[in-house]
Amino acid sequence: MHLKNLFSQLTLWHFAIFIIVFTSNQFFGSADLIKRDSSLNRTNVPKKILATSMIGRTHLPQMCEILKILMDRGYDVILISPGNYTAKSIHYHSIPQIIFENEIASQQFNNKSSDVNNALVDDDPLKLMLLLGKMAVQSYILFYNIYKQVAEENKVDLFFCDYMPLINHPCFDLAWKLGKPAVGISADTSILSNAPYKSDPMLGCHANMENESFYARFKCAIIIPLKLVWSSIDFLRGLNAERATVGINPHWDLRGRVSNLLMLSNTFFGFEVSSSDSPLHQEIGPILPDTFPGLTPVLDSFLADHPRTIYFALGTNAIISSQNVIIILNAFIKLIDQNVIDGVIWPTVRTDISESIEYANSSVSISTILNNQHPNIHISKFSPQFAILSHENTKLFLSHGGSASSHESMYTGTPMLVLPIMGDQPRNAEMLESAGMALKLSKNDLKVDDIVSKVERLLNEESFKKNAERVQFLAKVNSKRKYRAADLMEIVLNTAKYEGVKDENGGFKIDNEKLLRDWITPDTRMGFIRGKYLDVYGVAIILLLALGGGFVYTLLTIVRYTYIISRSENRNDQKSLKPKKE
Ligand SMILES: *[C@@H]1O[C@H](CO)[C@@H](O)[C@H](O)[C@H]1NC(C)=O
Ligand SMILES: *[C@@H]1O[C@H](CO)[C@@H](O)[C@H](O)[C@H]1NC(C)=O
Ligand SMILES: *[C@@H]1O[C@H](CO)[C@@H](O)[C@H](O)[C@H]1NC(C)=O
Ligand SMILES: *[C@@H]1O[C@H](CO)[C@@H](O)[C@H](O)[C@H]1NC(C)=O
Ligand SMILES: *[C@@H]1O[C@H](CO)[C@@H](O)[C@H](O)[C@H]1NC(C)=O
Repeated sequence: MHLKNLFSQLTLWHFAIFIIVFTSNQFFGSADLIKRDSSLNRTNVPKKILATSMIGRTHLPQMCEILKILMDRGYDVILISPGNYTAKSIHYHSIPQIIFENEIASQQFNNKSSDVNNALVDDDPLKLMLLLGKMAVQSYILFYNIYKQVAEENKVDLFFCDYMPLINHPCFDLAWKLGKPAVGISADTSILSNAPYKSDPMLGCHANMENESFYARFKCAIIIPLKLVWSSIDFLRGLNAERATVGINPHWDLRGRVSNLLMLSNTFFGFEVSSSDSPLHQEIGPILPDTFPGLTPVLDSFLADHPRTIYFALGTNAIISSQNVIIILNAFIKLIDQNVIDGVIWPTVRTDISESIEYANSSVSISTILNNQHPNIHISKFSPQFAILSHENTKLFLSHGGSASSHESMYTGTPMLVLPIMGDQPRNAEMLESAGMALKLSKNDLKVDDIVSKVERLLNEESFKKNAERVQFLAKVNSKRKYRAADLMEIVLNTAKYEGVKDENGGFKIDNEKLLRDWITPDTRMGFIRGKYLDVYGVAIILLLALGGGFVYTLLTIVRYTYIISRSENRNDQKSLKPKKE
């Protein structure tokens, strides 16, 4: 019966499909195909883009990659940033840069006994944040004025702002004041996320609070944010005082004037903790250049001779203590002795080798390494990181977990041992660990045996390599999204073309609060209670409670009445019985 039914249904369906295919062939089969026109009409689309960063250096590649794509599409681009960056870069020398030294910041970063470096050494994230905030306030007017001058001289149409919660307010404020669209970009926009379960190990929480206790979630979602707001009131007062001197209205959001703006996030799910956020906040990472410096002949032959090599690099900013350098080098010696690994490549960058030699008290093995005489350990000042990670003999990356290094390790499918130092690194370390391709170390409790056992696990347990390869696929697919980022910025500029109110200079003015109405979700306009439907759910709960309460009340009443009736009946019975007895 069953089979027969199925058969008749199948044939009927097949027959129907046959008829559709047959008839459509009859109607369209003989016509020529035409090509869909996918070209964009960019006539009259505003084209001047001003990109700004108060930090420079490692914050620039993600912006420059997108700017290069936009230049290829006919846009005019200017970059303002400290440090002579684009002229000296092999990838970005075509991008015109206005070099600008931020004396206040460079004094703090280059001076070993400065407050900022002390806070770094003391490992006090809150103090560091407030110091950075103080620096941002001190340099607000400096940056505001240069941004303004360049923007007016060049009739800029869009601001592309390097975003950090306390930093680069002048960019967003100026765009808001001039009535030009602004787009933000950052490696980590988790601070803008709606998801309450996202937090930060820098604040004593976790990147993902999924499995934490009520107490921990309460602390990280309510108490710590309140503490942050409380301790940053002075910062906001100072910032608003600076704003007032250049005619900008005060603004009390620590995150800056970024609501309703397009914010690009140089990350991807698989690495970042997943969440559903506003369409205004788009993941467009990992952004990587298309070409990288290749291996030098020395490194090429070193890697060929050492099939189990660890690459050890801490990026261009991070510094670790001499004590930790010695612990790591001792771990390498032990790993090589035990034949777990046979090679190490270490670009020292900012680590002061002579200091470490002194600290090692002329230990023979350590000074052999630091003088680059150890046959299995290769030391240099700099190295072509991506080429080394791409080599099949590089089995493990011991890294500080900066976002660029993490992206490169994921893109090349290299498992990681992460030693986070500051900033977003502790958070990245947790996310890499939960992706299953990394283990992490603690810089405050670094031990030779811990490093050795973790390296052994990473090299011997298959799951780390497998997960690294899984994430590699995600990274490769998502690395195309820098073109998507350029598309999104083009959409903003094109929207401005239609929404902009023309002014007398042939320019236009837009309202950043409303410009991107296609992406702004209605709940943000409905207010907190209506936006979250708390009124509707509230009434529904009250109704349910009332109904439930009414039901219970009726039930109780019925029970009581039947009880009373049955008792009175009993009494009546007893009464009627009593006289009989008497
Ligand atoms: C592009 O748009 C402009 C007006 O915005 C129009 O004048 C022009 O004809 C369009 N070009 C094409 C190829 O459609
Ligand atoms: C920046 O670097 C380029 C290339 O090295 C050099 O020609 C130029 O003079 C530098 N500019 C400044 C202001 O240092
Ligand atoms: C470094 O910073 C300390 C503390 O702020 C200051 O006393 C010292 O003069 C600075 N040194 C230099 C070379 O700027
Ligand atoms: C939380 O626990 C669940 C169930 O054990 C697990 O699937 C998930 O990966 C855990 N999440 C984190 C962030 O550890
Ligand atoms: C070198 O000697 C100093 C002073 O005696 C000591 O504090 C330090 O721990 C020694 N370093 C090592 C690596 O043993």
